Amino acid sequence: MGGTRGFGVDIGGSGIKGCVVDLEAGRLATERIRIDTPDPSSPELVAAVVKKIVDGFEWTGPVGVTLPAVVKRGTAMTAANIDKSWIGTDAVAVFTERLGRAPGEVTVLNDADAAGMAEIRYGWPGDQAGVVVLLTFGTGIGSALFLDGKLVPNTEFGHLEVDGLDAETRAAASVKDEQDLSWEEWALRVSRYIRALESLIWPDLIIAGGGVSRKADRWLPLLDVRTRVVAAELRNDAGIVGAAVAAELGVEH
Ligand code: BGC
Repeated sequence: MGGTRGFGVDIGGSGIKGCVVDLEAGRLATERIRIDTPDPSSPELVAAVVKKIVDGFEWTGPVGVTLPAVVKRGTAMTAANIDKSWIGTDAVAVFTERLGRAPGEVTVLNDADAAGMAEIRYGWPGDQAGVVVLLTFGTGIGSALFLDGKLVPNTEFGHLEVDGLDAETRAAASVKDEQDLSWEEWALRVSRYIRALESLIWPDLIIAGGGVSRKADRWLPLLDVRTRVVAAELRNDAGIVGAAVAAELGVEH
């Protein structure tokens, strides 16, 4: 393996997924391995799962890893849906050591930033002009902001305060499940959230990702917002693909 192949691991609040990625086509090159996120989702336990996944493919090259957290120069700065002990952890150092990699072979970035990198490169390559936002609706709400295709990392728009509440506690996909909301009820909340975001950054395009993007036809038509909203082309694989792209190209943050 090698050449146009890379490796991505996407760490989420409920599962950790990874596999070999075809960097030319921008899609998974193999079946992915998914393992439940350990409880507690501490750096040590999560790193052990990441190693298991990487070793499962006998992959020896560079590895890109996403975290559901703000990541500044390889260090996790927040931890909304993972164990708080991640805060201040040098994630690059943890994974580099656990995976037995040389310095520079492991890249760590925010999960939504990774998904956005993949979507803008492979999913909607013709729509990069202007301000594009990817929003991932999952356990939380993640965001990735691009200006003419260039990432502005760690935007954290999921934590925008809307009607006095942290937006992701009202409009994440997990809330739809927990509160058993209908598509109509949930779409009202998502619309409210997107309108708040629109009034601040006036995007030209919004790409809706996360697991719930698989069912985009159920809820995108219900949205009442100004901006054109399209479904993520890579669906839930965008994080893995983007992680592998980041490992190949590097990421500024
Ligand atoms: C976190 C973000 C993350 C998003 C999606 C939010 O709670 O603060 O860093 O991108 O969830 O996982």
